[in-house]
Amino acid sequence: MEKRELLYEGKAKKVYRTDDDSLLIVSYKDDATAFNGEKKGTILGKGAINNRVTNHLMGVLEAAGIPTHFVRELSDTDSLVKKVDIIPLEVIVRNIAAGSLSKRLGLPEGTRMGSTVLEFCYKNDALGDPMVNEYHIFAMGFATRGELAHMADLSLRINGVLTAYFKEINVELIDFKLEFGKLADGSLVLADEISPDTCRFWDSTTGEKLDKDRFRRDLGNVEGAYLEIQKRLLG
Ligand code: TMP
Ligand code: ASP
Repeated sequence: MEKRELLYEGKAKKVYRTDDDSLLIVSYKDDATAFNGEKKGTILGKGAINNRVTNHLMGVLEAAGIPTHFVRELSDTDSLVKKVDIIPLEVIVRNIAAGSLSKRLGLPEGTRMGSTVLEFCYKNDALGDPMVNEYHIFAMGFATRGELAHMADLSLRINGVLTAYFKEINVELIDFKLEFGKLADGSLVLADEISPDTCRFWDSTTGEKLDKDRFRRDLGNVEGAYLEIQKRLLG
């Protein structure tokens, strides 16, 4: 399968058309941004790591019965995926307080909560991906009631599978972001990526951060953290 025209370039990935109208090629970049593009940098090798890590985890989820857009890996940085209409919502799943939730609610990072928290953000860079609730989602038509219920159910199932999977490699899955899309027949599938860019991973023993927070917060050894996650998942 070969790349045709560039359809879209985002902050961390490029998307290309292919000869098959139902398939796209995603190409992962080493570019890193944070705070809605305000902070820019490069994480050497990130594109290849995020490509491999995402594909591995999509395979784990498919095996657990979660439908995804993943078709196959094409190269170090490129993968073939099914074309979807992206639902313009980011689903954030939180097991332990951290990041923007800690700030908003004044909870120290690492605080355990009574149950898993789901949040929805409207995907819109110009607005900085604002958090929205179900009233906004239905009023603006971002998703139907059925779609939102299905996304929430899939997100919690994904959380169960991934939390257990990461526990086996001594990593605590603190929180993560998911995106969903609709295939031509209207069915919902997991899309986008699951990587150290889009998850918080803390070493279960030491609490060391093994994710993009090392870049966001200038903690150093960013490449080392991405490599460590790849090594624990893929050997
Ligand atoms: P937050 O605490 O900054 O809201 O982030 C929650 C999770 O979502 C965290 O695992 C990082 C991920 N995330 C993204 O994937 N993309 C984003 O643009 C942001 C802000 C967070
Ligand atoms: N990727 C996002 C941005 O550039 C935010 C983040 O991951 O922190 O804004």
